[in-house]
Amino acid sequence: MIKIHDKYFKPFISASEIDLALTQMATAISEDLAGEIPVFIGVLNGSFMVVSDFVKKYKTPCEVAFVKLASYEGMSSTAEVQRLIGLNIDLKNRHVVILEDIIDTGNTLQEIYTIFQNEGVQSLRIATLFYKPEAFNKDLKIHYIGIEIPDKFIVGYGLDYDGLGRNLPEVYQLKNTEPMINIVLFGKPGAGKGTQADFLKEKYKLIHISTGDVFRFNMKNNTDLGVLAKSYIEKGELVPDEVTINMLQAEVEKNRDANGFIFDGFPRTVAQAQALDAFLEEKNMEISGTLALEANDDILISRLLERGKTSGRADDQDENKIRIRFEEYNEKTAPLIDFYKAQNKFHSINGIGTIEEISARLNAVVDQL
Ligand code: IMP
Ligand code: MG
Repeated sequence: MIKIHDKYFKPFISASEIDLALTQMATAISEDLAGEIPVFIGVLNGSFMVVSDFVKKYKTPCEVAFVKLASYEGMSSTAEVQRLIGLNIDLKNRHVVILEDIIDTGNTLQEIYTIFQNEGVQSLRIATLFYKPEAFNKDLKIHYIGIEIPDKFIVGYGLDYDGLGRNLPEVYQLKNTEPMINIVLFGKPGAGKGTQADFLKEKYKLIHISTGDVFRFNMKNNTDLGVLAKSYIEKGELVPDEVTINMLQAEVEKNRDANGFIFDGFPRTVAQAQALDAFLEEKNMEISGTLALEANDDILISRLLERGKTSGRADDQDENKIRIRFEEYNEKTAPLIDFYKAQNKFHSINGIGTIEEISARLNAVVDQL
């Protein structure tokens, strides 16, 4: 999912689907105009990408020109269409093909028909990459259609939302649902982080990215990043943040239309938190909030010792070892707490109580994010 201005968009049509549609259009048009030298006319601004990619697929001689017409503000097609500017070639007796990025209501198309019919062209054809049949309300012929799409707002591949999004190589569709929720979850050992992460994941339909699991997965499956990570670990060195970030990035990319993510076990340092922010920003995402499950050490120790009796985990049976883990946690998270407090994103959650109580406290915070 991506954010443009105030709206969220989800991946909708991939670059390769667009490529295929343009190839098919180029083939169909060149068959119909065999032996002719057509003039392809792009309607700016939106059609610059379509025209550029289309003509590369058109294997026989052709001319290319651009005109400028409609303006489209915000999210619904404006009823009024502006006049045409920029046409500086004589179209008399030429075979003209208008290349549109998208045909929505057909208002623009109507204008085009009117204007070009007065140019004395030999033939006039309309080709559009995207077509919204449900929105189209004109009795006009569209000769070539790349991809039919539902009547929902899209961006990317030349199409913008209020100026932005034209540079995206693929197409995204407006998402009507809630904005993305990206959470960093902190919690001392014993604070019930795993249990609560499962609840959050379920309730808000989030993807839980546990760094430990991601590492184990990559190393076990010998992915490129896993092999790289292993090479550091075998030398007894710390895995560089960059490698870890790249693994997380791969996880985020695997789940591109997710409602959000829970980052668990990462970041552990301010440098990592900064790297995470930078990477999310590239994806038009951001951390919505950092949740720290907090509890008094003595209570956690008794919980862990209790767990140690049944789980048999050695590190849960020795009070000193537990205290060392707490100290490590405090040392490492303190600077992160400051980092997220400075961004107004830090939320401390009382981790004492029943699982349901704690979960209700977390939900109350997440609902406000
Ligand atoms: P019309 O409603 O067919 O006249 O479309 C007018 C113009 O609105 C198109 O040329 C596009 O520039 C723009 N437009 C229509 N639908 C969308 C959309 O879903 N995303 C972005 N621009 C759109
Ligand atoms: Mg247009």
